[in-house]
Amino acid sequence: MQTIRTPLFKVFMPPTVKSSIEETLFSGFLAEGEKVAEFTQLVSQFIHNPQVVMMNSCTMALTIAYQLSGVGPGDEVITTPLTSIATNMPILQLGGKPVWADVDPRTGQSDPSDIEKLITQKTKAIVALHKEGDPAYLDEIHAVAKKYDIRVIEDAAHAFGAKYKGTRIGTHSDFVCFSFQAIKHITTGDGGALCCKSENDYLRARKMKWFGVERENRGTGNIWENDIQDRGYKGNMNDIAAAIGIAQMKHIDEIIEKFNRNGLAYSESLMGTAGITILERNPENFSTFWGYCVLADHKHNLEKKLREQGVAAHQIHPRNDVYSIFKESKRKLPQVDYFCQKELSLPCGWWVDDEERERICSIIQSGW
Ligand SMILES: Cc1ncc(COP(=O)(O)O)c(C=O)c1O
Repeated sequence: MQTIRTPLFKVFMPPTVKSSIEETLFSGFLAEGEKVAEFTQLVSQFIHNPQVVMMNSCTMALTIAYQLSGVGPGDEVITTPLTSIATNMPILQLGGKPVWADVDPRTGQSDPSDIEKLITQKTKAIVALHKEGDPAYLDEIHAVAKKYDIRVIEDAAHAFGAKYKGTRIGTHSDFVCFSFQAIKHITTGDGGALCCKSENDYLRARKMKWFGVERENRGTGNIWENDIQDRGYKGNMNDIAAAIGIAQMKHIDEIIEKFNRNGLAYSESLMGTAGITILERNPENFSTFWGYCVLADHKHNLEKKLREQGVAAHQIHPRNDVYSIFKESKRKLPQVDYFCQKELSLPCGWWVDDEERERICSIIQSGW
């Protein structure tokens, strides 16, 4: 078994987290409180959206976004199979049906022209996935959504800090969902955020993440005497997770900068390499390059060669549409077929220094 010297993911954890978390651990209060409020504030300021609700995962944020979009039994959501199962499982949980859009083979992003063909009376939402931190075709997706009056939900699990045409991801759509799970750019152990455009959605989401009840009103009488109007969840973030997040946020700019710098440098070095196709990326956007995705001929041979040299590289998310639970959604997806055959991601994060990145490029350039 070859030792992996450069993993595809690595958890960033600043030493300052120790004091941040220790204070919380012995404070006598661990549930959702002041630390969650502080972390929420930091995230709100960073993405320039005052309507942010912290959750215990991005999956929870997506679930509530679907529910607020009206997804229920028999409804459809246009989404991509080229993602984590977490994007699509909540649609099924609500009784809805994922409808797979094919992808643009140049980018792996959902193809807006295919999305439009899939709209029906039952469509309640379109998912815009920022694949590995590369912003989705937001303008085109919004144009379709506006035409048919449908909600847009961004799965921004890989895109905390990314920018679409100069504006940070977090405010463009009805809902934007971030993940602070262990291997994301910043982590709270597990955690997520739901960012809302409308005040009404925001106020409902605040309640839905905790059984449909406004936690902020604790201490102002018996909160359980108020009516509960939405099916809610035990989906809130706690102060321990938020304390980790607060320590992480101090480093957000430098972390994201490192991912981005590595991604751009990979593109420059690997451009023109035989057997490698570089994805097209809009230079107006800022990608967070959660992984550096390329299309490689005979990718399994290249994966093996890289592994022999201590480098982990593979397709991060196998396509979702092959699982039995999604059999009702089966559809021909020629561009997804093409993309999956070649899709391979290279380590791109803060733990990859210039020397290691150049070594990885040389291994690839020497052929496989
Ligand atoms: C694209 C995508 N969406 C959603 C999620 C779910 O995130 P979480 O683990 O915070 O629920 C992930 C997790 O890796 C993901 O990659």
